[in-house]
Amino acid sequence: MIDTHTHIDFKEFDDDRENVIKRFFENGGEKMINVGCDLKSSIRSYELAKNNENIFASAGIHPHDADTVDKNSLKKIEELVQHYKVIAVGEIGLDYFRNLSSQEKQIEAFKLQIELAENHNMPLIIHCRDAYNDLLDILKEYKTSNWRGVIHCFAASQKIAEEFLKLGFYIGFTGIVTYYKDKSELGNELEIYKVIKNMPLDKILIETDCPYLSPVPERGKRNEPLFVKHIAEKIAHIRNTSFKEIEKTTSENAVKLFNL
Ligand code: NI
Repeated sequence: MIDTHTHIDFKEFDDDRENVIKRFFENGGEKMINVGCDLKSSIRSYELAKNNENIFASAGIHPHDADTVDKNSLKKIEELVQHYKVIAVGEIGLDYFRNLSSQEKQIEAFKLQIELAENHNMPLIIHCRDAYNDLLDILKEYKTSNWRGVIHCFAASQKIAEEFLKLGFYIGFTGIVTYYKDKSELGNELEIYKVIKNMPLDKILIETDCPYLSPVPERGKRNEPLFVKHIAEKIAHIRNTSFKEIEKTTSENAVKLFNL
């Protein structure tokens, strides 16, 4: 299993970080990507990656902190992405749900970091909430032949998923997919089930986004990389296939996209 989106540098793990890492790697975990969301966490992610063979890092500034994107911070992100264990630019994107930075500033910060990724031929880790139309417009505007990435924590419609797939993006699923009741109990097909069922297998990634979004049956507790297995299990269940197949293909997908 590869958890493609962790935040184990966060203070929630200060007391037992080494044990959390160990639990993952001793129970089927192969690799994890610790994702930066501001300058400080990008540096911490890089440090974690530098000190652990199977931990990789991304560097980038989240839309919540778009206000902090300036020449100086971009220069530091650019220095980080040149280290071989830093394998993506992210998480970057748009968040119109919380709007912690203005939408104009978010768009500007997103574009600047896309350019940075393009200059260094890096994949993108994209965060998007309530801003899919603007985000798609920007991605279409910047589409080039060699850029690629993942739409992290996907929770939108089949139609929007198809737009991202057309642009060549991978789709990342978190514990959110485990929050819905079984289709047979509901009697009709949920949109997220439809998305997962129709997704080409070679475009699916699994991610915890820990410490947030703990999947069932751990919901309500602090999330950790090992719990990514519950997401793989749920996807296997929805697609009527085996855990092994989801585990294997999502790992292959992550290795391919991020060149791990
Ligand atoms: Ni995240």
